[in-house]
Amino acid sequence: MKGGYDHFMQKEIHEQPEALLQTMRGRVMFRRPDDEPSAYVAGAASRITLGGLVDTKATIRRARRIMFVACGTSYHACLAARQTIEDLVELPVVLELASDLLDRRAPIFRDDTCVFVSQSGETADTLRALEYAKTRGALCVGVTNTVGSAISRATHCGIHQNAGYEIGVASTKAYTSQVLGLDAKVRALAETLRDSQSLLFFARGSNYATALEAALKMKEVALIHSEGILAGEMKHGPLALVDEHMPIIVVATRDGTYAKMQSVIEQLLARDARLIILCNEGDERMQGYAAGSRCQLIEVPQTVEQLQPVVNIVPLQLLAYHITVLRGHNVDQPRNLAKSVTVT
Ligand code: M6R
Repeated sequence: MKGGYDHFMQKEIHEQPEALLQTMRGRVMFRRPDDEPSAYVAGAASRITLGGLVDTKATIRRARRIMFVACGTSYHACLAARQTIEDLVELPVVLELASDLLDRRAPIFRDDTCVFVSQSGETADTLRALEYAKTRGALCVGVTNTVGSAISRATHCGIHQNAGYEIGVASTKAYTSQVLGLDAKVRALAETLRDSQSLLFFARGSNYATALEAALKMKEVALIHSEGILAGEMKHGPLALVDEHMPIIVVATRDGTYAKMQSVIEQLLARDARLIILCNEGDERMQGYAAGSRCQLIEVPQTVEQLQPVVNIVPLQLLAYHITVLRGHNVDQPRNLAKSVTVT
């Protein structure tokens, strides 16, 4: 069942390239720069087709806003995707934690499109928020990984993470081997962090979701106190936590926030912070920071800005995994937690 891996979490981290390919299968038609237009059917440039939304596309286009509703990791996925969705649909995109939406009885209108994101499709708060949105007359869209789940049945339309037909090209093997190459370095880093009491993750933009998700994994499996911090807020409080002992992981891959993240790193180094910088491979500026100080680098392949958070989270998941194993905690069944939270 674990296919040669020691734990399911480790196996599932390494299965991500294949999982992403399955999600895109039949939905994403890539055109590579070197492809002849004739490689595809006439007029078929790079495009995305989501079969489950075809009938409601016009309603979604007329929406006043798109509201994403989720819990936990699924909420972080929405946060990571928000900017791309805003850029593509040119509509306001708001995010709601399902429990908070319910506590506030937040206003929802007939011309809202509400998207309920849940891996299991069974999360009680997300399901209750869906029922609430339906009473308000909103179009309710599901994004779940479980065919036939309560959320996929209760929504008006949706996307299954594994459904689809034919697809274009992706270099699964190469990518997987890059992740595996990274593993040994991350394991060594985990050794240095195994006894930490607390860990901070600093990031900006869509990598704020990376920071929150990495901190959640650190709490959830490694049982270490951890916080994901929006680096733009650093001087409004979190900077007080910085000293030479507290490990701080800074996400500074090349995107629109790169220059600001350099400034964050310099300010942290000036305070003798114990830094680990997650950066793109071959980034000489970041290598320069590491050369002159005790800061360490985790280097990841560069991809388009919108997808960089997908790559960035992988070594941080591995880091949480290795620290958990080193600390002797149960990786696949963390204490007090269940896979699906079906009660509120
Ligand atoms: O099945 P869902 O995506 O609705 O689950 C939501 C959360 O309970 C879940 O993502 C939780 O945060 C994870 N166990 C964290 O790793």
